[in-house]
Amino acid sequence: MPNGTFNGFAKLLHWLVVVLLVAQFAIAWTMPDVHRDTKPVDLIAWHLSVGMTILLVMVVRLGWRTVSTVPPTPAGLAVPLAILSRVTQFSLYALLFALPVLGWINANARGWTVSLFGAIPMPALVATGSGWGHQMGDVHQVVAWVLLGAAALHVTGALFHQFILKDSTLRRMLPGHG
Ligand code: HEM
Repeated sequence: MPNGTFNGFAKLLHWLVVVLLVAQFAIAWTMPDVHRDTKPVDLIAWHLSVGMTILLVMVVRLGWRTVSTVPPTPAGLAVPLAILSRVTQFSLYALLFALPVLGWINANARGWTVSLFGAIPMPALVATGSGWGHQMGDVHQVVAWVLLGAAALHVTGALFHQFILKDSTLRRMLPGHG
């Protein structure tokens, strides 16, 4: 990539995931507790819908990343920090796939049909009543906290580049640069 920044579509997908995640956590922490007889309506329906949209955007994002050029990391980062940065970024990708799929599994175990945009029904990943699928609800909640931790580390890293190292790392993901 000649100018060393992410291309416009990569930036759009990055910030779209950020906006969707903020909305998704706000919904998750506001929606009613999910019990045995809970129906997937209102805020819970929104949670499923926004979560599946995040999964779809991540599929597009991973596809785009594999076919487009990723700008090299600015040189000069100490090796342990470079490794931490890579591990955090890989974890974010992995968690943003795993978390929605765990929610999808749990929803199916509860007998709920999951769809994309409320219009395209998605296949059931486990049978209704699956004990394993029910347990994935607890795993889903724990993984959501792990995702928050990884996102916090990621933001800290971006701010460290911007204000301590004063390099171009953050700018190359901002709109209007490059
Ligand atoms: C990145 C996307 C997602 C995030 C960040 C997320 C986050 C969360 C969080 C924080 C909770 C716990 C809410 C509480 O404290 O009560 C939760 C619960 C839940 N989520 Fe998600 N979620 C995502 C995607 C999905 C998807 C795609 C589905 C289903 C299609 C889903 C289904 C559920 C269900 C069924 C619960 C209740 C689990 C239980 O209580 O056993 N989530 N989610």
